[in-house]
Amino acid sequence: MKFGTIGAGAVALAFAREALAAGHEVVLSSRRGPESLAGKIAELGHGASAATVEATASLDYVLIAVPWPNVEDALRGVPAWNGRVLIDATNPFSEYSPNLTLADLGGKGASEIVGGLAPGARVVKAFNSIVIARFNEGPAKSGGRRVIFVSGDDPEPKEFIQGLIKSFGFEPIDLGGLVTGGRLQQAGGPLAGHDLVDFGYH
Ligand SMILES: NC(=O)c1ccc[n+]([C@@H]2O[C@H](COP(=O)([O-])OP(=O)(O)OC[C@H]3O[C@@H](n4cnc5c(N)ncnc54)[C@H](OP(=O)(O)O)[C@@H]3O)[C@@H](O)[C@H]2O)c1
Repeated sequence: MKFGTIGAGAVALAFAREALAAGHEVVLSSRRGPESLAGKIAELGHGASAATVEATASLDYVLIAVPWPNVEDALRGVPAWNGRVLIDATNPFSEYSPNLTLADLGGKGASEIVGGLAPGARVVKAFNSIVIARFNEGPAKSGGRRVIFVSGDDPEPKEFIQGLIKSFGFEPIDLGGLVTGGRLQQAGGPLAGHDLVDFGYH
């Protein structure tokens, strides 16, 4: 499978490392263009490449991992989605520094807003709920496996992403659709940002 990433920062690189280790290819993109990503591509190694946001976003599975205030800009001008899958790893912070400040979403869920900016995309919210430093420590903790939450309205891509998460060694938990599950796992929701571990008693 060839994954695209819109954004090539901490989250996209962490995702890319796991996807490459699992035998996939990853095409990164960022605001500053493919040339600016040469060092990161070299570091990631075999299977990694860089392209424009437009080219990257034309792949079948596209991870978006950009700061919340930039989501609209990042999704503007990408090819029509036509059912391709958008994996939403963003969290709705209006400011990241000096403090994390939640954006005013006007009562909507963050992934509903992302979906509205990507008409025709099948949105799966994933990889946003775990702090990336914990993700980078790997899935194993205290004899269990770290949990990654997943929400989405389309069963097929959601199952695929859960399988992907399992192949990375983490434990996926399906929270349901975007309206309910998405809100639970987005920043500010009750399931975001915890270092949760599953011990497999099921
Ligand atoms: N860090 C975490 O622990 C964590 C965990 C889960 C989720 N998240 C969420 O995931 C998202 C990304 O976080 P991060 O920590 O990976 O951020 P980051 O390290 O600051 O990286 C952001 C990336 O987005 C790119 N970008 C910004 N605007 C863009 C645009 N308009 N078009 C294309 N690319 C654009 C940047 O490219 P340039 O460098 O070229 O500007 C950069 O590669 C955020 O929404 C964050 O809240 C973060």
